[in-house]
Amino acid sequence: MIEQSCVRVSISVLGTDFMELGRTLERIRLSGADSIHLDIMDGRFVPNISFGSSIAADIVRASALPCRAHLMIEHPEDAFDAFVGAGVTELLFHVEATRFPFRALQLLKRSGIGRGVAVNPATQVESVVPLLDSVDTVLLMSVEPGFGGQSFLPGTLAKVRALRSAADRAGTPLRIAVDGGVDASNAAALRDVGADELVAGTAFFRAADPAAFVRLLKGA
Ligand code: DX5
Ligand code: ZN
Repeated sequence: MIEQSCVRVSISVLGTDFMELGRTLERIRLSGADSIHLDIMDGRFVPNISFGSSIAADIVRASALPCRAHLMIEHPEDAFDAFVGAGVTELLFHVEATRFPFRALQLLKRSGIGRGVAVNPATQVESVVPLLDSVDTVLLMSVEPGFGGQSFLPGTLAKVRALRSAADRAGTPLRIAVDGGVDASNAAALRDVGADELVAGTAFFRAADPAAFVRLLKGA
């Protein structure tokens, strides 16, 4: 397998102490991570509620790193303007949360920010192949969405490999991101099967040396 050397790392702030958010953003910046991952949850698409676009805007304003919104919400199209207005650089919505993903991607294209789809563990990779020409990123969930701190689902490795093959066959420069339960034990295997970006939350906040943890995820 060809080792991916330029893997990006995005840190989810879902598990942080929000009373310490400013300090958390600085820790993430100093760790060498590439971006901030904002987990937006509505209590309907997932059985948890996190935060909305006004908090997202505060984080964007306070963060030196680019911020991506991962919308785990029903009817995500209804929230696009709010999160584009919050200043996120990329927005990902779940293919399971809309009946019209092409139309949703078209809306995002007009906003000029990065765009992509997220895919739950039980959703087949084949379901996003028709969208590959319309996305910058596909986020493969390696846990059921809704909560941090869950165990990585090993079946994700085969999904990354299958999606990478599909993107190569289609000749599209797809970024494949993996989200949920990512840590030191699975990062190398994910890079080997073709993941371009690893999202981590719990393992980052548990790391005694965040910079060493990020380097390890990058394979640096
Ligand atoms: C789960 C979210 C993940 C989570 C981070 O629904 O999408 O981004 O917060 O996962 P852990 O904490 O497992 O790294
Ligand atoms: Zn996420």
